[in-house]
Amino acid sequence: MLLFSGLFFLMQHHLQELRASFLDQVSKAKTVAELEQLENAFLGRKGSITNLLKGIKDLSDEEKKVFGKMANELKKELEATLAQRSQEVEKSQFGNLAGQFFDVSLPGKKPAVGRLHPLTKFIQEVEDTFLSMNFEIAEGPEIEDDYHNFTALNIPADHPARDMQDTLWAKDIPFLLRTHTSPVQVRYMESHRPPIRIVCPGRVFRKDDVDATHSPMFHQFEGLMIDTKTNLSHLKGILTIALRRLIHPELELRFRSSYFPFVEPGLEVDVSCANCKGKGCPVCKHSGWIEMLGCGMVHPNVLKSVGLDPQVYQGFAFGAGIERLLMKKYAINDIRLFYENDPRFLEQFPHV
Ligand code: FA5
Repeated sequence: MLLFSGLFFLMQHHLQELRASFLDQVSKAKTVAELEQLENAFLGRKGSITNLLKGIKDLSDEEKKVFGKMANELKKELEATLAQRSQEVEKSQFGNLAGQFFDVSLPGKKPAVGRLHPLTKFIQEVEDTFLSMNFEIAEGPEIEDDYHNFTALNIPADHPARDMQDTLWAKDIPFLLRTHTSPVQVRYMESHRPPIRIVCPGRVFRKDDVDATHSPMFHQFEGLMIDTKTNLSHLKGILTIALRRLIHPELELRFRSSYFPFVEPGLEVDVSCANCKGKGCPVCKHSGWIEMLGCGMVHPNVLKSVGLDPQVYQGFAFGAGIERLLMKKYAINDIRLFYENDPRFLEQFPHV
């Protein structure tokens, strides 16, 4: 009769415990990954059953035979249970794909990728264009005072030119929402001396009713260049380079006289219609030209208001409405499309 040692019984008990624990956990596992983890934890190289088997060296030769056999049978049983459970789990996890056609060469679904809003993108293009011509980018507050938005720009309190831009005033405090980016010119000249070359993109606000071409909030970019000899031919050159880069490489420019209180002479720039290349089409109302922006030589009164001597310094300024410019560039017929964020509209613009 074979007599077993205490160690043998202890190991046998431990083996049964491991078996019970393994079977319990395998039956509860719901994914292939969980089953793989269990296999590793029990049967892997550092698994608990493998560890237990290392103790076999302390048993007698007879005990080794019996325990070795028991352990092998147990391993087989556990492996079989694991294989069976893996099949069940795979089936419930991946569905029964057998018999179904599965084309592994099909391209995957593309994730939806975001992009910059066309206004943001255009503002970046404006900034890049002027930075490349040695301009700096300047910013100013959207909440302005009367002085910077009007008075310093040669529009005194009772001047009829104030009616040109319907203003949104704050209640009870002497502030307004800036009606254009021109006050940034004043603020910059107050704190910097020439030579000055800046471009200032930003939001502006007007008491305009919403329609296809008007919004109470829209964007402008302003340019300003001041030095001792800056003249209209510089304005023409800089605007031609910038607008060709921003709108169309073959664009032609036409300068017409116009009126803005803060420039003298004041000019309006028309560009050749990119749609028909100047031949005439519905986009340009058959004229071949499209109104693009206002500009001119900075008025001596504006220079005086920031302490610059108009006998020494001179320069030009220009300002454009960004939405209207993009509407003309892309033949967009309603300004509201810019603010509705409808993906069908946004997706038509090139990716960044
Ligand atoms: C100005 O605001 C001047 N500050 C521009 C300027 C700067 C002229 C420097 C000379 C020198 P104006 O009021 O015309 O000008 O407005 C400029 C542009 O803003 C218009 O041509 C138009 O494109 C755009 N705009 C005006 N009102 C609206 C509106 N309600 N919605 C969308 N765009 C508008």
